[in-house]
Amino acid sequence: MSAPLRQHLIDPEICIRCNTCEETCPINAVTHNEDNYVVDAAICNACLDCISPCPTGAIDNWRTVREPYSLEEQFEWDELPEQEELELDAGGDTEEAREEEVQDLLDQAHAGAGGQVRPPASAAKPSINLYSRSEPALATVAGNFRITQQDSQSDIRHIVLDFGNQSFPVLEGQSIGVIPPGVDARGRPHHVRLYSVASPRDGERPNHNNLSLTVKREVTQVDGVEHPGVASSYLCDLKKGDQVQVTGPFGNSFLMPNDPEAKIIMICTGTGSAPFRAMTERRRRRRRRESEGEILLFFGARTPAELPYFGPLMKLPDSLIVKELCFSRLADKPKEYVQDRMLKRTEAVAALLKDTRTHVYICGLKGMESGVKEALESICRGEGLDWQSLSAEMRDTGRFHVETY
Ligand code: A2P
Repeated sequence: MSAPLRQHLIDPEICIRCNTCEETCPINAVTHNEDNYVVDAAICNACLDCISPCPTGAIDNWRTVREPYSLEEQFEWDELPEQEELELDAGGDTEEAREEEVQDLLDQAHAGAGGQVRPPASAAKPSINLYSRSEPALATVAGNFRITQQDSQSDIRHIVLDFGNQSFPVLEGQSIGVIPPGVDARGRPHHVRLYSVASPRDGERPNHNNLSLTVKREVTQVDGVEHPGVASSYLCDLKKGDQVQVTGPFGNSFLMPNDPEAKIIMICTGTGSAPFRAMTERRRRRRRRESEGEILLFFGARTPAELPYFGPLMKLPDSLIVKELCFSRLADKPKEYVQDRMLKRTEAVAALLKDTRTHVYICGLKGMESGVKEALESICRGEGLDWQSLSAEMRDTGRFHVETY
């Protein structure tokens, strides 16, 4: 009987097919076809370089197997197989001891990859994977509102989903999956798409069993022909009363600190603002009861007309959140990205970075990630801090979080 091995797998239900893992893998162990991203067991050396860049956590799945699942098998999956009961070798170790050994190896590998992504120490415990593709929750659309100006190019929607009497608990920073109805060009059901929740844990409307999403209508151009995004068009066109199949909730690390004195730096572009709306609203609803730490927001959009929630955001007082809004396509001003503004606010950012109560969150376009990290590095250098060790320490203590796509 061959010895059991720990096989690295990608959860097809959660994966948003962003290609990050394939780009990150240093030894080309990740590949994909039209359906799934998969890991080749014959190549993967469990270096775990791919784990922390994955925006959804779909990448961090493992099964103990005697014969690894082939690429062909993985390409066919709509969901991950259950962990099989493995027979033990005569005189061999116990399943428990073997699990422990494997966990040790994983912990070591995670450490090499810069530390496992951890939630803030004071975060509430999230519920995850309550509903799957085969057993989704059924939500009813309670509202669908455009939150960018009518004449602007970006059609971004605030969509409220009501779960009726189904239990669907979420925390700020978590995501849900949406299953677009119908089939793709090959007659297969559409993939689940992931969206960050934009409302706080007690609901879009406090103490109602509902939540909100921030969804941008995506259109890609191929050879001059416009192709509307399957899931985003479906969601943006929903009418009040329509029903939506939902999976999740997902995410157990990109969560907000419950500690009311924790300070937060939020850095986002476009719809990456969704989790920050949720976190800010949580703080706003609680602020009469508790003193709270400051929030510093860097938010990038093309113009004010295209910045989601521009109106309501402008009404929030500086005592709750300091807003640094940066615009890239104003007719009369040079382009400004979030990282440019951060460099202009060196003192404020550095003061927060020096405080061990500060948590940093980055969410939005993948392209901004490197620019923002360079800005943080430069700010640290100017203040005699070392960003490499500070970011490792922040990640280790659940105070540094990145979700880009
Ligand atoms: P740009 O005008 O260059 O596209 P979008 O509207 O596409 O969702 O983008 C949101 C904002 O993020 C826009 O202002 C966009 O600017 C900006 N952006 C694009 N690339 C980057 C990047 N690499 N770093 C920071 N911001 C970026």
